[in-house]
Amino acid sequence: MPDVTALLAARLQAAFDRLSPGADPVLRPSDRADFQVNGALALAKQLGRPPRAIADAVVATAELSDMCERVEVSGPGFVNIVLSEEFLVQRVAEMATDPRLGIEAVPVPEVVVVDYSAPNVAKEMHVGHLRSTVIGDSLCRILGHLGHRVVRENHVGDWGTPFGMLIEHLNDLGEATAVHELSAGDLNSFYQAARRSFDADEVFRERSRRRVVLLQSGDPETLRLWRVLVDQSIAYFDEVYAKLGVLLTDDDIRGESFYNPLLPSVVEDLRAKGLLVEDEGARCVFPPGFTNRHGDPLPLIVQKSDEGYGYAATDLACIRDRVDRLGATRILYVVGSPQAQHLEMCFAVAKMAGWLREGVEAEHVSFGHILGSDHKMLRTRAGASTKLVDLLDEAVTRASSAMTERGRDEDLSEAERIAVARALGIGAVKYADLSNDRTRDYVFDWDRMLAFEGDTGPYLQYAHARIRSIFRRAAAGGTPPAEAGTVVDAEVPDSTAPVSLAAPQERALAVALLGYPAALGAAAKDAEPSKLCAYLYELSSAFTTFYEHCPVLRAPERATRESRLVLAGTTARVLREGLSLLGIEAPERM
Ligand code: ARG
Repeated sequence: MPDVTALLAARLQAAFDRLSPGADPVLRPSDRADFQVNGALALAKQLGRPPRAIADAVVATAELSDMCERVEVSGPGFVNIVLSEEFLVQRVAEMATDPRLGIEAVPVPEVVVVDYSAPNVAKEMHVGHLRSTVIGDSLCRILGHLGHRVVRENHVGDWGTPFGMLIEHLNDLGEATAVHELSAGDLNSFYQAARRSFDADEVFRERSRRRVVLLQSGDPETLRLWRVLVDQSIAYFDEVYAKLGVLLTDDDIRGESFYNPLLPSVVEDLRAKGLLVEDEGARCVFPPGFTNRHGDPLPLIVQKSDEGYGYAATDLACIRDRVDRLGATRILYVVGSPQAQHLEMCFAVAKMAGWLREGVEAEHVSFGHILGSDHKMLRTRAGASTKLVDLLDEAVTRASSAMTERGRDEDLSEAERIAVARALGIGAVKYADLSNDRTRDYVFDWDRMLAFEGDTGPYLQYAHARIRSIFRRAAAGGTPPAEAGTVVDAEVPDSTAPVSLAAPQERALAVALLGYPAALGAAAKDAEPSKLCAYLYELSSAFTTFYEHCPVLRAPERATRESRLVLAGTTARVLREGLSLLGIEAPERM
C-alpha cells in the first residue's frame, strides 16, 4: 500500500513539473483541510506570475479526482486538499489488515553503519553518552524496520595515551582492589585518582609514558592489564545498556584499539596521495574550507610530532574500514555537537583521499546538551556529574510513585507493577530525549517527563494501554471480568470489519493513522526520531478526541462499534510499533 502522503506528493509533483520542472509543491498537513499545498507562492515569485494563477493551474492539472473530495484555492494562493471519504475508508481498511501497517520495505536497501554510544574505558558514561545511545538505538530500529541493513558500531574509547596512566594506577592500587572498584562502577574515582597522580608526581608521569610505549609495542603483561581495564568497563557499560533496554551487545563493540594496526597505512596512503603536510613535526592534512578564528587554515593532525597517532587518524582508518570492509553506503555518527568540526574535517579528508567515495554518505547526527533546571550542564546536587545508572534507577523509582499517585490498574500483580514502573520510567527518560529536535539543548525535568498529560512517554503508553483495555472489555462481553484478578486475553479485533468515517473525529483519526509511513520515512531520512515522536503524539491526541466523542463499546449500532474497534485497534498497533521503534515498551495495562 503506497503511503498516502507520498502518493499525493507524486501527483502534485507531476502538476508542478508541468509549470516548472522540479518545483517543490510544499505539501503540509493542515487543520482546515487534510493537506495544504504552499508551493504556488514560491513558484509564482520565480516565474513572475500571480500566485493564485499558479494555484489555479495546479488545481486544473493535478490528477486527484480518485483521492480527493475537494481541491480548492484559498488565500493568496494556497491549495487546500480534502481527501474523499471513500478513499480514506479504503486506505484505512488496507492498513488495518496489513501486518506491516502500510510500511513498505525500501526497494533498494542501504548498508547503514550507525556509530553510537561510544563511552570511554575507565571513565563514567555521561549524559552525552546517554543521548547517543538512545538516539542511535532508535535510528537502528527505524532503519532496520524499513528494510535497510544496519550495522551497529560502538566506537568505545579503549586506546591512546591515557592508558599509560590508567595501567600504572591499576598497578599502584593492586589488581584486586582496582577490579573491585571498577566492577562496582566506580569508574570516575578510578579515573580521577589516576589523573591526580599523573598531575602531582613526576615519577608516576614517567612510568606512565613508558607504559604507553609498552602498550603500543604489544608487551604481553601490559596488554593483559589493559584488557582488565577494558573488560571491567565493558561489564559496567553492559549494565547500563541492560537497564536502558537497547539493542547494543558486545558483538557491536568496535573500539578505537581495533583500528590501531591500520593507522600506519592511513598515513602512508595520505602521503602517497600527496595530501600529507609536515607542520612543526606533526603530520597533517589541511582540508580546504576549514580555518581557525584568525582565518588561518586548520590542520587535521594525523600523527603527532612524537610519532603517536591521534583520535583523527583512528576515525580516518575507521571510515575506510566501514566503506571497504562493511560496504557501507550511509554512515551515521551519533555524536554530540562539540565534535562537529572534528567529524566534518575527517569526512573532508576521507573524501580527498578517495576513501569516502561517491555514493557513500557520512552524516554527523549531532545532538545538543542536557541541561539541569538551572539551565546549566546537568549535575547532581553535590555538584558531581550525574552518574547514569543512578539516573535510570531514579527514573524507575519516580515512575513507581507516579503510578501510585495516579491510581494504577487493580489487576496488576506485584511483578507486573514493577515491570510497568520500569517501562514507564525508562520510557519517560528516552522519550524526553528523543522528542526534542536532537540538535537543541533540553532541560531535564522529572515532573514534566513523567506526566501522564502532554507530549510525554507515559501519555503515549497510557493511550495504548487504554485501547488495550477496551479490547479486554470487549472480549469479556462488555462487562468487567466477574472475578477481580482474572486476566481476560484481549482478542485481536476483527480487522476486516467495514470501516465508516461519518463523525469528523473518526475521519481525523483515519487521516492521522495514514500519516504513519510518511512520518517514519522522514525520521529515517533526516536521522531524526523526534519526527516519529511528533507523529505518535499527534496520533494519540487524535485518538483522545475520537474517544471523547465516539463511544466504542457503547456505540449505538453493531456496525459502528465494529468500525470503531478497527480504528482503535489499528491505533494501538501503530502506537505499540512506533514506541518500539523508539526503544520504548508499551505495557498492556498500567
Ligand atoms: N568516545 C568518544 C567520546 O566519548 C565518542 C566517539 C564517537 N565516534 C567516533 N567515531 N569518533 O567523546
